[in-house]
Amino acid sequence: MDWGLKNRLAQVIPSDGRCFFLPIDHGYFQGPTTRLERPGETIAPLLPYADALFVTRGVLRACVDPQNSVPIILRVSGCTSMVGNDLANEALTTSIEEVIRLNASAVGISVFVGSDHEHETLLNLAELVNECSDYGIPVMAVTAVGRELEQREARYLALACRICAELGASVVKTYWCEKDFDKVVNGCPVPVVMAGGPKCETEREVFEFVHDGLQRGAIGINLGRNVWQHDYPVGMMRGLRAIVHDHATPEQAVDIFEEIKSGKN
Ligand code: 5RP
Repeated sequence: MDWGLKNRLAQVIPSDGRCFFLPIDHGYFQGPTTRLERPGETIAPLLPYADALFVTRGVLRACVDPQNSVPIILRVSGCTSMVGNDLANEALTTSIEEVIRLNASAVGISVFVGSDHEHETLLNLAELVNECSDYGIPVMAVTAVGRELEQREARYLALACRICAELGASVVKTYWCEKDFDKVVNGCPVPVVMAGGPKCETEREVFEFVHDGLQRGAIGINLGRNVWQHDYPVGMMRGLRAIVHDHATPEQAVDIFEEIKSGKN
C-alpha cells in the first residue's frame, strides 16, 4: 500500500485499528433530518469523541469549522431524494479536485446491490477507486439496504461487502445482523465498519449490537442517528467510544452513559 493511502487511513483509523466515524450525511437525501437541522450545533459537543466525520461538501463548508475539526470522510455520491422515484439511482457528486481541495482523509460512496441501479452504482465505486488511487485517497463503500428484510441478512450483506472489496474499496460500511455476522466480516478481505440504522428503543440495545459486531470482527462503527437523535448524545458517544477503543462491555458502557446522564461526569 502506498505511503499516502496508508497515512490517510491512519488519520481515520487510529493505531489500535479500531474506529468511530460520526456520520452526519443523512440530509443528502432526507433533507433536514430530526436533530440534524443545524449540523454545526449537533456535532459541537460530539466531535471530541469521534475519529472522523462522514459529511457532504455542502455541510462541511457551511457547518464545520476548518480550524476545529476531526479528519473528514467526504460523501461523494447522491443526487436522489426521499420523494423521488428511486433512492438507488445515485451518481458521483464531487470531483477529485474538490476532495483534495477540502483536504478529505477519505471518501464514501453508496452502492445498491440487488437494485435496478446495481450496475451504475458499482461502476461509480470502481471509477471512484480508480481516481482516488491516483492520489492515495481511501474509499469507504457504503452498502445501502432497501426495505426488503432479506437485505438485513448475512447472505445479502456478505455478498454486497465482498463485491465492494473486490472493486477496490479500502473500508466497507454495512449493517450488523444477529445471525452469522461473522460470515459477513470473514468474507470481506478489507475492514468492515457497522452503521447504526434507525434509532433503537434503548441505549443498551445499541451498546450490545456494537459490542457483538466488534467481537465478530468489525473494526468499528459509522453510527449517527443512535447518537445524535438520542436525548443524551454525549453519553452515547462516550459509551460507544469505550466499547470501540477501550474494549468496554455493554454493561460498562451503560454505566458510563448513566454517569453522564446523571451529570456526575
Ligand atoms: C446515510 C448513511 C449513514 O452514514 C449511515 O447509514 C450511518 O448512519 P446511521 O447510524 O444513522 O444509520 O450512509 O445514508
